[in-house]
Amino acid sequence: MIILIGNQKGGAGKSTLTLVLANYLTMSRHCKVTVIDMDYQQSIVQKYQRAKLLENSEPYEVIAASLEQYPALLKVLTENLEDLVLIDLPGKLDDDGLIGVFRSADLVLCPFSYDEFSFESTVLFSVVLEKINPEVQTVFIPNRIKANVRYETMAEVDQQLGRFGLVTESIPDRIDFSRVSTFRTPASLIPVVQPVMDQLFVNYFAFLVDDLNANDLNTY
Ligand SMILES: Nc1ncnc2c1ncn2[C@@H]1O[C@H](COP(=O)(O)OP(=O)(O)OP(=O)(O)O)[C@@H](O)[C@H]1O
Ligand SMILES: [Mg+2]
Repeated sequence: MIILIGNQKGGAGKSTLTLVLANYLTMSRHCKVTVIDMDYQQSIVQKYQRAKLLENSEPYEVIAASLEQYPALLKVLTENLEDLVLIDLPGKLDDDGLIGVFRSADLVLCPFSYDEFSFESTVLFSVVLEKINPEVQTVFIPNRIKANVRYETMAEVDQQLGRFGLVTESIPDRIDFSRVSTFRTPASLIPVVQPVMDQLFVNYFAFLVDDLNANDLNTY
């Protein structure tokens, strides 16, 4: 299953949430995950290299891939349906080669925040995505949300984005997100990311997991 994490809005939290999700799926849900870093800055690959020096084993692999390498990589990575491939997209979607990546996606996760500029780029991203891949499921994740956001603004944005897909619970603005690594999400952040991660799991990934314990799900 191919999952893109994208939004052309820079700094929306794509790379950070890619790692939070990869950590959650491998450690809490025992899924097989591969992360593909397509961000030009290669921020995840750099974190991965650093973390590998400090730890003995890695819970998932991180691969840097160019658009040229993608089709061949895709063939290998999608041999098993239950293997989850998380792709961190660049902030600038200006390369035609990305069309193939969009077409290959089963699910797109789109972090955004409730400001006007973020909203506009998020809608534009969704319109383009829908044109390229009408079948894809899109999920919007409110991220870096400050306590003072107006309820009316949130309700209006949620309603507009709701036309394209599910809007999850919000992830608040917390300084410790800078400490998320390819090996762990800081314990202080678990309570704030868990509701969103569980929501994603129950809706999109649970059906892939063989040994799913039905009692487990009843508690969410
Ligand atoms: N919920 C949050 N609270 C506070 N800081 C956050 C949160 N999410 C992400 N950040 C921080 O925001 C910055 C940008 O995040 P990140 O690099 O994940 O965004 P991005 O969408 O991948 O950016 P780019 O478009 O440059 O690739 C990072 O410093 C990260 O630590
Ligand atoms: Mg990034």
